[in-house]
Amino acid sequence: RTARFTLDPAFTVGPVDPRLFGSFVEHLGRCVYTGIHEPGHPAADADGLRTDVLDLVRELGVTAVRYPGGNFVSGYRWEDSVGPAEDRPRRLDLAWHSTETNRFGLSEYISFLRKIGPQAEPVMAVNLGTRGVTEALELQEYANHPAGTALSDLRTAHGDKDPFGIRLWCLGNEMDGPWQTGHKTAEEYGRLAAETARAMRQQDPGVELVACGSSGRSMPTFAAWEATVLTETYDLVDHISLHAYYEPHDGDLDSFLASAVDMESFIEDTVATCDHVGAKLKSTKKITLSFDEWNVWYMSRWQEQAETFAQDDWPEAPRLLEDHYSVTDAVVFGSLLIALLRHADRVKIACLAQLVNVIAPILTEPGGPAWRQTTFHPFAQASRYGRGEVLDVRVDSPTYETARYGTADLLHATAVRADDGTVTVFAVNRSRTGALPLEIALGGLGLTTVVEHSVLADADPDARNTLDEPERVTPHPAEGTDLADGRLTAVLEPLSWNVIRLA
Ligand code: AHR
Repeated sequence: RTARFTLDPAFTVGPVDPRLFGSFVEHLGRCVYTGIHEPGHPAADADGLRTDVLDLVRELGVTAVRYPGGNFVSGYRWEDSVGPAEDRPRRLDLAWHSTETNRFGLSEYISFLRKIGPQAEPVMAVNLGTRGVTEALELQEYANHPAGTALSDLRTAHGDKDPFGIRLWCLGNEMDGPWQTGHKTAEEYGRLAAETARAMRQQDPGVELVACGSSGRSMPTFAAWEATVLTETYDLVDHISLHAYYEPHDGDLDSFLASAVDMESFIEDTVATCDHVGAKLKSTKKITLSFDEWNVWYMSRWQEQAETFAQDDWPEAPRLLEDHYSVTDAVVFGSLLIALLRHADRVKIACLAQLVNVIAPILTEPGGPAWRQTTFHPFAQASRYGRGEVLDVRVDSPTYETARYGTADLLHATAVRADDGTVTVFAVNRSRTGALPLEIALGGLGLTTVVEHSVLADADPDARNTLDEPERVTPHPAEGTDLADGRLTAVLEPLSWNVIRLA
């Protein structure tokens, strides 16, 4: 049976905030060291940044980079990461059982962003695990105050006369998680987040602040956590965070392919909770969402690896969480992007976790090349063509049964209308076996031409891009897509991510 939907310019979801295409650099494994930073690498610039990686990051279309963690931030001492690199202390990183050399720090992070380009915005997290209001204020002063105070002058003395201009700040990371150093109850965290937010706003009323929400929809405290934290912080913060990672469980690929069903419910439940608190407080303000960690992550492999750690081994930049993504993973990943776009009215920030090597769209070898994973392509295409106004897409689709999420649509789709009136449809066919005929009624959009129908799919759904074969999986053009009399017809290959551009 054919899957169908109608696009109409009168029915929109909302504008896409460019920060929906953010990513995340954590001091974890080889994300920083031998990922973005590798002095001595043939492609390294004078700051030790890998220019081959910078080129790929630009191509990926990353608009914001969250830093320095993640779980790492809950032990972070920002002052260790500034000043002459050779004088910086080596520290134990409890989050990832590693040694942190601090060779890459705050100034290097800002240089990295500036080299990506003006579109890349900093998203800085403060440590609310082992630290509190004072350290957050000191970091903010060091980073942002122009001059004439101890910490702003210290920044200048360290060679950074210009303030870093960090506007967007995360108030800690995953404070609901018992694994987090300095884990807190919702009441404890809510109070600390409120006092930190109040103080940071005293220093600069223009900051934009993200309170920690739940580190997953399955957390036992989910929703109650958000309600308590927002009751304390509602007038003081702008966004609440969500984190979600997906992997197949017990080989159940059909459920895995429907992961975005869970992601959309997570978003909708969080919105409902925010609005419940807003209603109780009789507030007209709307809290928006920062989905600042999302991805496919084979977390069960990491949990097995963590059990093998020797207590006395604290390696520098070990290989951790280096998932190599298949075509199937990329299709699920594309569907997660669709879920974010479908909720662009409330999701204003999203960070793909992470950027390089660690559950990342870009892989590198120390001293060797950098290359694109399968997941690189859906992200780059969505960032490039998913800018404008999201149109309301209500699909009439054949369905299939999943063990985890019940009945799910085979088609998952969204559409974005750019300022120039062109429209891009992003669509996933979740069927592992059947092609899916698609019909879209385009009344009122004035579209006449199929500019491109690009597909990511493969006869081998397990195919991946490797060091030896880095271009094994790339998008290819689809055959037979047609637009006539305001009606688009296409056939979506089994297990495929599709980008259909219309003018
Ligand atoms: O992205 C990897 C880890 O996942 C982050 O450090 C943490 O915030 C989350 O649990």
